[in-house]
Amino acid sequence: MSGLSEMIVDGTDADRLKERIAAELIAVRGRSLAYTDAEDDLLVRQHSPLMSPLVWDLAHVGNYEELWVLREAGGITPLRPEIDDLYDAFRHPRRDRPSLPILGPAEARRYIEGVRGRVLDVLDGFDPHDPDPLRRDGFVFGLVIQHEHQHDETMLATLQLSGEPGLVRDAELPPGRPGGPEEVFVPAGPFLMGTSTLPWAYDNERPAHPVDLPAYWIDRFPVGNAAYAAFVEDGGYDDPRWWSEEGVRWLRESRARAPLFWVRDGDAWWRTRFGRTEPVPMDEPVQHVCWYEAEAYARWAGRRLPTEAEWEKACGWDPAAGRARTYPWGDDDPGPGRANLGHRAARPAPLGAYPAGASAYGAEQMVGDVWEWTASHFLPYPGFRSFPYREYSEVFFGPGHRVLRGGSWAADPAAVRTTFRNWDLPIRRQIFSGFRCARSASPEES
Ligand SMILES: [Fe+2]
Repeated sequence: MSGLSEMIVDGTDADRLKERIAAELIAVRGRSLAYTDAEDDLLVRQHSPLMSPLVWDLAHVGNYEELWVLREAGGITPLRPEIDDLYDAFRHPRRDRPSLPILGPAEARRYIEGVRGRVLDVLDGFDPHDPDPLRRDGFVFGLVIQHEHQHDETMLATLQLSGEPGLVRDAELPPGRPGGPEEVFVPAGPFLMGTSTLPWAYDNERPAHPVDLPAYWIDRFPVGNAAYAAFVEDGGYDDPRWWSEEGVRWLRESRARAPLFWVRDGDAWWRTRFGRTEPVPMDEPVQHVCWYEAEAYARWAGRRLPTEAEWEKACGWDPAAGRARTYPWGDDDPGPGRANLGHRAARPAPLGAYPAGASAYGAEQMVGDVWEWTASHFLPYPGFRSFPYREYSEVFFGPGHRVLRGGSWAADPAAVRTTFRNWDLPIRRQIFSGFRCARSASPEES
C-alpha cells in the first residue's frame, strides 16, 4: 500500500482518502476497546501515580474527538460540555484523576460511541480540499487518530505496570540476525530536518529546515539486552564515572540497579512482562530505561547518545535522492517485514529482525521496537508556529524534556515517521524506551 501521506499529497481522490480515514478510525477504536475489555475494577483503579485509570484515557480520547472534530471542525453543539474539565489533561495531573467524578466504564463506552457516530457523519460530508488548515487533507482526523493511538500506547504502559495478565496478545516476530557491522557511518553534510509537506505531521515537526552535521557513526541496532546486562554486571550502576550529577541523584532516589521490570535470580536476569515472568531475551533491544541510564551506558561504552538531528539524518535522509524519506526504507507504509510496530507482539523484535527496514545509511530498527532516547532537549525548530493549540507541543519546550524518536512496538504506523518527535522527562522508564549510541568521526574518518 502506498503511504498515507503520499496519497493525501498526490490524491485528487477525496473518496479514497475518506475511506482510509474511516478505516483508521475503526482500527484505533478497536484497539482502545480491546485494551479496556476488562473488569470494571481494573479500569477504574489507579495502578501507578504515574498513570491515569484506564477508564480516564478511554473517555478522554472521545472528549478530544468531540472537541476537535465535532466542535472545532464540524461546528456541532457540545454533547457533554460539563465533562470537558474532567478530561482536560492540563487541569488535572494523572495522580489526581482517580479522585475526579469521571465517567464509569459503561458510561464512558456509551459516550465515545455517541461521539464517534457523529464524527463519521462529519467525515461523510467532509471536503479534504477545504482550505481551512484544520480541515485541509483531513488534518483534524489525523490529529484524533494519532492522539488515540498515543493514548493506547499509554494504556499499554499502564497495563504493564498493573502486572495484570491476560489482556495483551503476543505473536511470532521475525528471527534476529546476529553479526555484521556494529555501527554505520554517516558522512558530513547538510540534510533537511523536519517536514513542511507531510500533511498529518504535528506542529513540532515543522518546518523543514537544513541542518549541517559533521561526520559521525551511529549504532546499526538499538543497544541490546546482552550489552546492557554487561554494563550492569560491570558495576555500571555503582560507578559514578558513568553518571551525570543529575543521574547520580536519580540513582540515589530511585535505587535502580537494572532496567525497570528486571529481576536478578542467581546468575540470570528475569523480567516481568504483562504479568508473566520470563528470562530476559538477550537478543532483544533493552527497554524500560530512563534517559540517565542511557547516558550512563553510552559513557561506559566510550560513546554518547546521538543528537536528535543525527538520529533523524541516519534514519530518513536519502543522500542519493537528496530528500527525506517518510520511513527509513522509503515512503511505503510499514508492513510486517519492515518494522515491529502496531503491537503485533507485546515486545521488541530481536536485533537484526528487519533487514528490509534499513535506512539509506544501513541503520536498522530505527522505527518500531523501542522509542530511542536522544541527547537533545525538546525545542522548537526555527520558524515553529503552534498549531492547532499551544498545549500540544509548545508548553513542553525547554530543558526539562528529552526527545525520543522512532516509535516502539506499541506505537501504531499512523503515529510514527522519520520526523515524529516524542518527549518525556529524563527519569521516565515505564514507557517503552531504549536507545542506540553514536560517536563523532575522527578527522581521518571524515
Ligand atoms: Fe490526550
